[in-house]
This record gives sequence, structure tokens and C-alpha cells, in this order.
Amino acid sequence: MNEKNSGTFTLINDKTGDKYTLPIISGTTGPDVIDVRRLYSETDHFTFDPGYTSTGSCESSLTYIDGDRGILLHRGYPIEELAEQSNFLELAHLLLFGELPNQKESEKFVHDITYHTMLHEQLMNFYRGFRRDAHPMAIMCGVVGALSAFYHDSTDINDAHARMVASYRLIAKMPTIAAMAYKYSLGQPFNYPQNNLSYAENFLQMLFAVPSEEYKINPVLARAMDRLLILHADHEQNASTSTVRLAGSSGANPFACIAAGIASLWGPAHGGANEAVLNMLTEIGHKSRVSEFVKKAKDKNDPFRLMGFGHRVYKNYDPRAKVMMQSCHEVLDDLGIDDPLLELAMELETIAREDEYFIERNLYPNVDFYSGIILKAMGFPSSMFTVLFAVARTTGWIAQWKEMIEDPTQKIGRPRQLYTGPTARTYTPLEQR
Ligand code: CMC
Repeated sequence: MNEKNSGTFTLINDKTGDKYTLPIISGTTGPDVIDVRRLYSETDHFTFDPGYTSTGSCESSLTYIDGDRGILLHRGYPIEELAEQSNFLELAHLLLFGELPNQKESEKFVHDITYHTMLHEQLMNFYRGFRRDAHPMAIMCGVVGALSAFYHDSTDINDAHARMVASYRLIAKMPTIAAMAYKYSLGQPFNYPQNNLSYAENFLQMLFAVPSEEYKINPVLARAMDRLLILHADHEQNASTSTVRLAGSSGANPFACIAAGIASLWGPAHGGANEAVLNMLTEIGHKSRVSEFVKKAKDKNDPFRLMGFGHRVYKNYDPRAKVMMQSCHEVLDDLGIDDPLLELAMELETIAREDEYFIERNLYPNVDFYSGIILKAMGFPSSMFTVLFAVARTTGWIAQWKEMIEDPTQKIGRPRQLYTGPTARTYTPLEQR
């Protein structure tokens, strides 16, 4: 633990004049925190912070974000450097174990993950229970939750070896599960994993190969997929990660916890935004309608928001969005695609970034703004976009879950509330109501 005490913070109750001194704790970088753990026992008050805009829920050494400066670091390494020079499994090692692997460690880690890519054959039948038109995120919630019914030997969270096997299984099987959800929706046969391929290449193969034709991996697309996975791997205590931690804090098994994370990721304010961006761009349709939609986004009486814009933490350009835009151009150039949606997205970005409303509120494009255009070019339907986010984020979720379980101070997460309902009253029998 790298925390240290650095002073105190004094609260004064204006009603009673009572003073309470709370410790201030510093991490290695970022804002200090006021330690309110003893606040209730000492003052009889809770803190009130719906949406947790001012609340740190845990100590973590995985990921650091400086939202004002648009900085994202994993274990200290800037996301831009990782996206440029690293690969997804190396990042997974970094997140799980704290350091980049050396050559030997890397070979072993890749081997150990690859060893778990296949799914229990019985799970094929599980897929067949879904409607063919089921949303793939619905299938992901179901199948990942069901893993705990198939891998009993890795559900004991008190056994370090079982925890590691469950972690490797989740990282390894997630592309297989996602690709099968996609194949099922198309009515095509499932593809088994090919362990001679890299993580990203194998994923593309399982998604796009058909038994009747040879599938050639396009290295530009494999690189773009790997980069997309890197950019989405972890993002500190966002809604889905907090969901995984909260579910895990009760001692639930990791498969169930990751299924909870997938459910949380699905919403359009979180991982569902990439699908929503593409739907929005399609609805806008033409550059001439951009200002009409910008106007709608600014109208407080209209629930419409510019999807792919704004972020709870970034009040500057999301560093992932910059890499994503670059990747977007690379993929479109390689495939020779001239997608009018890219032009539309760039026009929308320009107009929004010159608009007072967006400037005042520090609303910049986020990671999801350009990812949908890349994925569309690669041949994915928009319903698969959030699934790819889930595949990548599983690594972050599992690393955060591991960190939590290994933390000796960990206890069940249990927020309190400000109660505003009726006070105690007497039950009225039905005939008297
Ligand atoms: N379009 C128009 N106005 C917006 C937008 C937007 N996309 N985002 C925020 N605002 C306004 C909001 O109306 C509010 O205005 P005012 O102060 O006048 O009431 C102000 O900006 C602050 O917004 P907020 O809702 O208090 O901010 P938040 O931190 O609660 O919400 C957000 C963050 C990401 C949910 C929100 O910006 C949003 O809904 N964006 C669109 C969805 C999206 O792209 N989500 C993906 C996030 S990145 C991927 C991930 O990590 O999951």
C-alpha cells in the first residue's frame, strides 16, 4: 500500500459547534482524499453523494486518470505508449501482476491464457436456447453468468490458484463467447479457437471465418482490434468496474461478478454509447443536419444527448479517442472505405467543439465517438460494439476484482442512504383503505 497520511481536515457542525477532525490521505498522485470511514461512528452523520462524484470507493494501483489534463496511465504507463508499442495480452499481464512481462514471463502468460480459449462443449446447447435475434449483450450476460455452472473448480474465491484459473479462463474465453454470440445471430457455425494465432487474430478468425472458405488475417485489422482491446481494457472505478467490485465484495464467484459487470456496461451512458453513436450518426444522415442535432443536444427540454461526447472524469480530450481516430483512418484507408459517417463525425466534432455550450461544460469526444466507425468498417453490426468493449474490459474487471480480493482491508460494499419516505405508521387492513 502506497498511501500516506498527510494532515487533517476539520468539519464544524454549525448547529452544535462540534468540531471533527478527519485524516487526509495521499496516494502516489492525484487529489488527496478525506478519510470518512469513522465519520458515522463519531458524528452520527453519513456523507451524501449520489452518483459518487466526490467519493473514492477503494484504494487501487492499476489505473490513474487525470481528467483535466486528458491523461490515462496503466500502472504508470501512458495509454498512448501502450497502444503504440504493447499488445493486449502484455497489458493484461501488466494489469493483473503490476509489471510488463519479460520474454519468459510473456511466453508463459500467453501460453497459459491460450490454453483456456475453448468453451465447454455443453455450452453450445446453452446458446441454442436463445432466440436468433437476441441482442448479443443479452447472450453475453447469460453465458458468462452460466460459466460458474461449468467451471466449479475455479469458483472458490479463497483459493489463490482457483482465482488465477478463473481469471485466465475469463480473459481467454471471452472472445470465444462473444464470437459465438455473433455467429449464432448469423446462423453460421461456431468456430473453434486457433491457438497458433494471437489473441486479436484468433478473435477475428472466430468472428469472420466460415468453413467453406479460407480466412486470411488482415494484419491492419488485427492491429486495429488489438488496439481497440488495449484502449478499452481498464478505466479505474467506472460503473461496470464498481459493479464487479460491489458484486465481488459479498464473496460471489468471479464468473457471476463479471456477468454483473457486463450488465452494467450495456447501458447507453456507459459501454452502450458506441452503438448509440453509430445509430445517432445514421439518424443525422447528412452534414446539413448536424447543427439541428447540436441544437437538440443543448435543449434542456429534449432528452437527446450527443452520444460519444462528454465524460464523468475527462474534462479534456479523452486520450483514447485520439488513438481511436488515428486507428479509424488507418482501417478505412486499408479497406479503401470512404464512409460518409466518418466525415459526418468529424463535422459534428468540429461544430460541437466550437459551440459555447460544449466549451463551457468541457464536453469533448470520448473513446466511443470513433470506435463505431472502425467496427462498422471491419464488418461488425452495431449490436456487437458493446460486446467488443466487454471482451476488452473483462481484463480490467478481473484485475480490479483480484486487487480487491487480495486487499486485507476489503469488506462488503454497503452504501447508506438519505431516507425520504414516510416515517413509522400503522398498517391499515384492506377493508378500511
Ligand atoms: N450532450 C449534451 N449535453 C451533455 C452531454 C452530451 N453528450 N454530456 C453532458 N452534457 C451536459 C449535461 O446536460 C450537463 O449540463 P448542465 O450542467 O447544463 O445540466 C453537463 O453537460 C454535465 O453533464 P452530467 O450529466 O452532469 O455529466 P455526467 O458526468 O453525469 O455524465 C456522461 C457523463 C458520459 C454520462 C454524459 O456526458 C453522457 O451522457 N454522454 C453521452 C453518452 C456517452 O458518450 N457515454 C460514453 C462515456 S465514455 C465510455 C465509457 O467509459 O463508458
